Amino acid sequence: MQQRAAGREYFMRSEPGKTGCTVLGIETSCDETAAAIVRRELDGKGVILSNIVRSQFTDHEPYGGVVPEIAARAHAEVLDRLIKASLEEARVNFRDLDGVAATAGPGLIGGLLVGLVTAKAVALVHNLPLIAVNHLEGHALTVGLTEALAPPYLLLLVSGGHSEFLKVARPFDYQKLGGTIDDALGEAFDKVAKMLGLGFPGGPAVERFAAKGDPRRFAFPRPLLGRDAPDFSFSGLKTAVRQAALARAPLATQDVHDLCASFQAAAADTVRDRVRAAFRLYGASGLPKRLVVAGGVAANMALRRALVEECAAAGYAFHAPPPGLCGDNAAMIAWAGVCRLEAGYTDPLDVRARARWPISEIAVSGPLEVKRHLTTAL
Ligand code: KG4
Ligand code: ZN
Repeated sequence: MQQRAAGREYFMRSEPGKTGCTVLGIETSCDETAAAIVRRELDGKGVILSNIVRSQFTDHEPYGGVVPEIAARAHAEVLDRLIKASLEEARVNFRDLDGVAATAGPGLIGGLLVGLVTAKAVALVHNLPLIAVNHLEGHALTVGLTEALAPPYLLLLVSGGHSEFLKVARPFDYQKLGGTIDDALGEAFDKVAKMLGLGFPGGPAVERFAAKGDPRRFAFPRPLLGRDAPDFSFSGLKTAVRQAALARAPLATQDVHDLCASFQAAAADTVRDRVRAAFRLYGASGLPKRLVVAGGVAANMALRRALVEECAAAGYAFHAPPPGLCGDNAAMIAWAGVCRLEAGYTDPLDVRARARWPISEIAVSGPLEVKRHLTTAL
């Protein structure tokens, strides 16, 4: 299934040319194969020229989760065609590009290798600079593409594998303020969906079911409420949902709606409390009061509403990518490539894919150490 990620309607399409900075982005870190062309115009405005995402959903569905070997193989089978399609749709050629960016981590190593090695081949053949992008930084920088927003800000990253608060005082510098001590928020949504038989990935399904449910029917715990450190814990909440579901089995459809609604309300309440703790910590730094939420779970409307309210109460400006650009896509990788390339940071052709690559380690392993590589040195 080839689909175009939403989000293009936010931008005027402009004529291709050699103005600004145009980058091909490749994303293969998990179960989405994606290629996109993004350009920053001379006036600084970002434009998505193409943004193609092929979900591997049907490949993994029978197994109830992502199978790494199947994912890597599926990326390898379609990536070249997706790159060709992204160039055609953007009406640009390899010679119109200023660089090629690929996710180098964190993620499933087989998939990362497929994307990164392909990007290296494109860089080598077409004499282009290579940018090895941290997937989480791709999520984080998306608001720069959609709202031209630049640091400093407080960042809340919520995806399938990560839930963390980061102080972003400067571009490319992410200082962790707190994170999850067990499950990530997206993981909790996925596990709740799985136990209720709603399929994978679970977040969107839980949100859909929650819409017709009673959020007050089940009194689920709000973990870590009142703690000073802006950390998360979702494992106990997930277990409480499981116990409630088992106690009422077999579940009627309305039970499933109510379980989803009550779980989502508990998750949103928890994030409310945890963001207040993050505001206290970040606020002490005196940086501008701005919250950016990014990652797949940022598409959840109940969560966004909760964050908007907390921001209003604390005098923070709220920023989030459009829902269609919250999930994994290659436009965010291309845009991160544009930002890094324009700042002078590129990577050598022997750069490695990294299954584990915390965003808070970018400042040391990224800009401060990465050498500036001239295209002609390739
Ligand atoms: O950022 P992402 O697309 O991939 C990772 O980098 O992990 O995030 C995927 C996660 C999954 O756990 C998925 O269930 C969750 O984001 N998610 C949602 C929603 N859409 C995606 N969770 C709650 N509500 C949603 N609407
Ligand atoms: Zn992601």
